[in-house]
Amino acid sequence: MSEFDIIKKTKFPNTIHTIKRDLRKMGLKEGDIVLVHSSMSRIGWVCGDELTVVQALLEVVGEEGTIVMPAHTGGNTNPDDWSHPPVPDTWREPIRLTMPSFDVKNTPTRGMGKIAECFRNYEGTVRSNHPQVSFCANGKYKNEIVEKHDLSYALGMNTPLGKLYELNAKVLLLGVGYSNCTCMHVAETLVNKPNMIKNGASININGERQWVWFDDIDYNSDCFDEIGLLYEKKSNDVIYGNVGGANCRVLNLKNIVNFTKDFLEENNNLNLQFQNCDIEDENKIYLKIKNKLEMYEDTDKIEYDKVLNWKKDNIENNINKYTKIVCNGRDVGYYSIKEENNKVEIENFFIDEEFQNRGFGKKALNHCIEKIKEKNIPMVYSYLFTKDERQIELYTKCGFTVREVIGDSRCVMAKKIDNNC
Ligand SMILES: CC(C)(COP(=O)(O)OP(=O)(O)OC[C@H]1O[C@@H](n2cnc3c(N)ncnc32)[C@H](O)[C@@H]1OP(=O)(O)O)[C@@H](O)C(=O)NCCC(=O)NCCS
Repeated sequence: MSEFDIIKKTKFPNTIHTIKRDLRKMGLKEGDIVLVHSSMSRIGWVCGDELTVVQALLEVVGEEGTIVMPAHTGGNTNPDDWSHPPVPDTWREPIRLTMPSFDVKNTPTRGMGKIAECFRNYEGTVRSNHPQVSFCANGKYKNEIVEKHDLSYALGMNTPLGKLYELNAKVLLLGVGYSNCTCMHVAETLVNKPNMIKNGASININGERQWVWFDDIDYNSDCFDEIGLLYEKKSNDVIYGNVGGANCRVLNLKNIVNFTKDFLEENNNLNLQFQNCDIEDENKIYLKIKNKLEMYEDTDKIEYDKVLNWKKDNIENNINKYTKIVCNGRDVGYYSIKEENNKVEIENFFIDEEFQNRGFGKKALNHCIEKIKEKNIPMVYSYLFTKDERQIELYTKCGFTVREVIGDSRCVMAKKIDNNC
């Protein structure tokens, strides 16, 4: 949003006094230790820009308190995992070979917002030494908080987040939602058998830039909004309020981490079943396909009725190629596998909206890939809508990459099948 639009939307300028007043109304006080995630534009126009917000936060917690903010540097990550946007396969090795190493003093934050970047540069602020997910702190406990930051399990207990857990810190979500509530990732490190990935970053070792590989959890915030809302229903912990026009929440870090852990454990124990589809599924599948077409295809540019009829016939003639995804007796979604001329495609992969954000998509897609492995073919393909970002992200997480963009609305994603593992 442009500053001009923000001014138009703001009734009265937000000042250091109004911001301090708003923060105090949400129970923030001297001596508090607060992890802040923020969006400047949500506040409305602020007199003195982001520096005003940083100063207001520091003044509210005072000398006995501590403010902490994420200083993540998402650019210094393995380009194989980039999906917003992805880069061509041929760029990946050159990126790994030349990415500047993390520099605790100079590497700017990425995607954390103006307030977090201003805080990083604020006098007296210190920063933890992690190439991807560092945190900045200022105030009484700043050194203890940033002191340790393990390379692996980078959002686990042996990091600033773990220290904040021990210190019984608060979290302030200033104009942002639970998907930005980084401490919830700690819970992922505490559950049994988390999904692991090979991560990589450029690090300075004895004065030399090096690309270093390390194992870490495949962190996933997809279900954080759902967990957060459930937490609000079940606990009295969340204080709502506003800073200017920004909707805010203040909550206890330890409590939300523990709640998230319980949720994930319960969810991990939910097993998916996969059943062959029959005639009763045909109409449900048809409606899902129609819905996707309406969402992502320019239906004026195609012979829409003809396409729909063709889809209907195709489902009826191939219902034996469809699989139903089921959890605890409830239908979660569908997919089909098409095999033609030694080419295998995953088609019509759906997870019902009600079951999204729970990791079911990834489980089901991986199950589908395992089934394809039995066919002993080298590659699996899928045609997706380019605007279906959610689906593209899911396929990327399961190792697919975009191979080709077709026309205005579709792309081909593909994955090599490693039949040895
Ligand atoms: C991505 C994110 C930072 C974007 O929020 P945003 O409000 O659009 O961006 P910023 O906070 O950087 O604020 C910049 C905007 O403030 C607005 N702005 C400029 N001057 C302003 C003023 N005086 N007063 C108020 N707003 C102003 C402008 O719209 C500016 O956008 P521009 O730089 O494109 O012109 C936010 O959505 C977010 O995700 N924050 C949390 C990040 C986080 O903690 N992540 C944790 C790991 S998941």
